[in-house]
Amino acid sequence: MYTTEEVKARIEELKDPSNEKTLKETGGVKHIEIDEEANIVTLIIGLEKVEDEYKKYMTRALAKLIKLDLGFTGLKAEFELLKKSDSILSKERKVKYIGIASGKGGVGKSTVTANLAYAFKTLGKKVGIIDADIYGSSIPTILDMDVKMPNVTKDEKIIPFNKDGIELISTEFFLQPDKPLMWRGPMLGKMLNHFFYDVLWSKDIEYILVDLPPGTGDVAMDIQGLIPQCEMLIVTTPHPSASHIAVKAGFAAEQLKHKLIGVVENMSHFIHNDEQINIFGEGGGEIVATKLKTDLLASIPIGQPKNHLSIFSAEEEIGLDYLGLANKLLKRA
Ligand SMILES: Nc1ncnc2c1ncn2[C@@H]1O[C@H](COP(=O)(O)OP(=O)(O)OP(=O)(O)O)[C@@H](O)[C@H]1O
Ligand SMILES: [Mg+2]
Repeated sequence: MYTTEEVKARIEELKDPSNEKTLKETGGVKHIEIDEEANIVTLIIGLEKVEDEYKKYMTRALAKLIKLDLGFTGLKAEFELLKKSDSILSKERKVKYIGIASGKGGVGKSTVTANLAYAFKTLGKKVGIIDADIYGSSIPTILDMDVKMPNVTKDEKIIPFNKDGIELISTEFFLQPDKPLMWRGPMLGKMLNHFFYDVLWSKDIEYILVDLPPGTGDVAMDIQGLIPQCEMLIVTTPHPSASHIAVKAGFAAEQLKHKLIGVVENMSHFIHNDEQINIFGEGGGEIVATKLKTDLLASIPIGQPKNHLSIFSAEEEIGLDYLGLANKLLKRA
């Protein structure tokens, strides 16, 4: 049995028939998934030109490789146009990516992502958010935005939403309000591809924060494929149940060759009558940082913003915590 990486490496040796470059050179393997039970490989391949003759050529080359040479039973391949030159992934764009990850759900990733974006903005940085939590996207709610389809240009580029100067794209905008997300593998990978290839992010964007789903899985693999340079910030609560899994998430990110930039302990304590109460225990953030050999960059207490659903202003103490965190992240970059 071949691993996904092995199969991907073999596919990347094939050439894009329209320009004779290997798929490795063009970054043409957009998505790969292997269904081990059914022995089927599902692919999304980006080609520089998608005329029928090129698709046919590619389908034959893939079928030969996947079925004959590697012995898989089935192959499903979809093709799409490579639009790398003007995308945010092009080499000329020097965007820095920060992924916000945790092991456990509900520890505050999305809240941290959104507040960090505002803190970056306050510090004069142009920032965007990709809500990559495909099944449980929540950034639009956190930012108190209407959920509607984004506008699309004539050549099918998606215009990101702009909230208070922060650019944002989320799966939630593409969903019908009453329909659950039924996508699996390929569609999901494709959605992330669109976020990177087909969204008209501003030319001067400096940072993109990526709100990741809890745990490890397909999305993590796709992010690795699209932005291996993405550095990871790990969010945990002080509780052992969260910190234990956060450590795992950190190791998983490292296994995918992402650099860890540090740990945020969220819901770290509660201040009542000037007294600090450690509702969810203590020490989780420190434990995670030590085990992952990285730094605890911030401890964010439990609290509710005064004038917003989820975003703290720079006048509030927790707002200052976020500014401090943003400052540390900017300094190290
Ligand atoms: N420091 C905090 N103080 C009080 N409430 C908080 C804090 N951080 C997050 N919350 C609340 O906890 C809940 C979960 O937060 P959030 O959605 O950011 O977590 P998440 O890790 O993104 O969750 P999911 O795994 O579902 O994506 C939200 O209701 C949020 O408002
Ligand atoms: Mg979330």
